Amino acid sequence: MRFAIREFDTVTSTMDLAIEAAESGVVEGYVVAAEEQTSGRGRRGRTWTSPPGVGVYLSVVLRPRLEAVHGRLLAILTLAAGVGVRDAVNRLTGLDAHLKWPNDVLIGPRKVAGILAEGINIGMPQQTVVLGIGVNVADGVYLDAVGSNATSLERESGRRMDSSSVRDEVLTAVGDTYDRLARGEADDILRAWRSASPRSMGAQVEWDGPDGTQRGTTHGIDDNGALLVRIGDRVQRVIGGELRWL
Ligand code: BTN
Repeated sequence: MRFAIREFDTVTSTMDLAIEAAESGVVEGYVVAAEEQTSGRGRRGRTWTSPPGVGVYLSVVLRPRLEAVHGRLLAILTLAAGVGVRDAVNRLTGLDAHLKWPNDVLIGPRKVAGILAEGINIGMPQQTVVLGIGVNVADGVYLDAVGSNATSLERESGRRMDSSSVRDEVLTAVGDTYDRLARGEADDILRAWRSASPRSMGAQVEWDGPDGTQRGTTHGIDDNGALLVRIGDRVQRVIGGELRWL
């Protein structure tokens, strides 16, 4: 995968600019990267705090023609991006980061990066995915906010990091996993994801379902990227929703 990077100082969200660019026809591999986001967003409508100079904030336009993952495109792409970002974090820090379903990259108990995939015209010939990646590179006041479980590459590794090297490493690794998906290696990517996510097996979780709060034990992910949770003697698939790790 080849990238064409457009750099900005301050944007609302790199997602907004990348989606706009995608809709006006840019080619696959177009990247919007910013120093700062004033309305950075995370999954499920949450805010992704994005102060200047301490993080990598970027969105990549993808035009996937991945027949092998038809019908599970967004879930598989999210997991694949997680595998790529985790590889990059490991290379940069020398540490062993892990993945928390569906898309968090953690070092120990703390989150260092997050991934957001938004689809346009999914299932149609011109389907597009904008993949947003946020990495905490250096410490900012936000890391010490009450209730924050965030950390940064610098804090964990004790090394100074240069944001543009982090960005390049992340893009290279994510481009690599994307190329592997395009070569039909989705099973290998899922295998890599599973081995990078010890908590997807045997951890206690709960979530609010239509019949109230449910609680169970994680039992891996299936080939569509859904989390499997054992409740008593049955196994339930969890697709989205807010899962709480206990
Ligand atoms: C999450 O873990 O909830 C996903 C976080 C995704 C954050 C990135 S930062 C770059 C891109 N622009 C955004 O507004 N969000 C994503």
